[in-house]
Amino acid sequence: MCGIVGYFGPKNGAKIIQEGLAKLSYRGYDSWGIAAKTGETLTIYKQTGDIERGEKLELPSTRVIGHTRWATHGSVTVANAHPHTNESGTIAVVHNGIIENYALLREALIDEDYLFKSQTDTEVIPHLIDYYMKRGQTFAESFSRTLSDLKGSYAILALHADGTLAFARKGSPLCIGIADGEYFISSDIPSFLAHTKNVIHLEDGDSGILDTELTITNYGKPAHRIATPVPWDITIARLGNHKHFMIKEIEEQQRTIPAALNQEHALIEQAVRLIKQTPNLVLAGCGTSYNTCAAAAAHFIAAGKHATPVIGSEFDSAAPLLSEKTLLIAVSQSGETADVLDAVKTAREKGARVIALTNVPSSSLARASDLVIPLGTGPELCVLATKTCTAQLAILTLLALKSAGKDTGTLTQAAASVRAVLEEGKKHAKKLAEQFKDATSLFVLGRGHLRALASEAALKIKEVTYIHAEGIAAGELKHGSIALIEEGTPVIVFGNNETRDLITSNAMEVRARGAIVLGIDSERSPAYDYHIPIPELGEAGQLLQILPVQLLAYELALARGCNPDKPRNLAKSVTVR
Ligand code: F6R
Repeated sequence: MCGIVGYFGPKNGAKIIQEGLAKLSYRGYDSWGIAAKTGETLTIYKQTGDIERGEKLELPSTRVIGHTRWATHGSVTVANAHPHTNESGTIAVVHNGIIENYALLREALIDEDYLFKSQTDTEVIPHLIDYYMKRGQTFAESFSRTLSDLKGSYAILALHADGTLAFARKGSPLCIGIADGEYFISSDIPSFLAHTKNVIHLEDGDSGILDTELTITNYGKPAHRIATPVPWDITIARLGNHKHFMIKEIEEQQRTIPAALNQEHALIEQAVRLIKQTPNLVLAGCGTSYNTCAAAAAHFIAAGKHATPVIGSEFDSAAPLLSEKTLLIAVSQSGETADVLDAVKTAREKGARVIALTNVPSSSLARASDLVIPLGTGPELCVLATKTCTAQLAILTLLALKSAGKDTGTLTQAAASVRAVLEEGKKHAKKLAEQFKDATSLFVLGRGHLRALASEAALKIKEVTYIHAEGIAAGELKHGSIALIEEGTPVIVFGNNETRDLITSNAMEVRARGAIVLGIDSERSPAYDYHIPIPELGEAGQLLQILPVQLLAYELALARGCNPDKPRNLAKSVTVR
């Protein structure tokens, strides 16, 4: 939900910021803008649309801030794009988050004759800084005074025309990349990975100033933050020979699934101990992360463990069942999803323990948890979760099997089969996409733990192709959804040895009504028009079964002229409720 980045150093900052914003555009891409110190003034440039299609700016400046937007307050217009400024244009601000009390602040400022040009919550910030500066405070003092007026969540960068850069974080991510005499302050590391791997992860309540030196305080008290190297390789943030990050990240699963399983032994043992101890295991996540929770809950339950998957935004409904005996496994790629962070807060208030599964070990989720299991995939830049989905599935299945005392060899076999399944999937994906590309609806059927995987498959297809797609418990089909099956409706069926007989009947039922059935299954059933074989690996099979659907979703997106990396209306990190 919006990405911000600032540069302070000796080089051409406008170019660096434009390149950095392109790397952050997974956080929002409906408009973008930059503010650059040019001489004694600030030059502001804003545009609607995706920065990657925007013009390359020739702006010699060594102090620059930029923003890529996912609209919340106000529609997609140049006026609503960031940066926002005070009236004289000497203070520019970019912001990620939501200022909850902006309406009151705006009214108070209008009473003081401040003029607003946008409908955003952000615009109150430069005006407030201006207000305090006009009353004799310095830029730094005014920035800090402004922060104390704000309610809500934010990562903010403010640039003054004298070249001073101020920053703050509360509830939205912000980190500082440090190179030799250069600073990059950003929502996320990929925006500056080409320049440095040395990173300070700011804490909630941190704010600071960059002028002759870097000063950081936490809620007003001096704070000492140390830069640490991130183990990420720059090639992860580059497309290389691939056309899109989606296909690059799908292919990376040959590496990321084995890596996710290759966790520190002591960490997994500790998590397993906590799982065994709790009589009430709750798993929470949103979107794909919820689907992996639901799939894992089925494994825990099958092994006799009481486990409840809860959608992050519905967590309040589970709150009455929480106690100090509860263990919450909170799953979030970004570690910044607001509903998951709220769930953790609620669980903590009830005294529950929390294990975080996240791809960002420095995230807000990781900081709020007792134990952090990293997904370890490296940054995922496509808006769709693919490699992080299978990393979550791998780790959660590992925990379920280990806590039930079961053999985990099937997971190792699944990891070793990723390449072959991707190869097989590629043989079919293009042809199937051609056949399915004009469909208006698509259904995915599964039973048992494969029901949750059916929801994940449908999510992948709908978000990138805009085809209406539903994942259904196959047995539920007859209770309504079968009314929508007509001649040519694509139906994907996830089968395995345990469910094949029943799911074959369900596949027959839809086929009898004209559906075209694609079976992703260890064996071919007569009900399948098309079949993509995967090895029979019990609980671990789902790691492989989702792969051909990811490939199909990608090819369908291309066949329908959709941008796979940037589906409409979506942002990767959902930091609003
Ligand atoms: C699906 C997708 C989203 C995310 C959801 C949760 O492809 O990307 O549904 O899974 O927004 O995000 P995290 O895992 O960051 O909490």
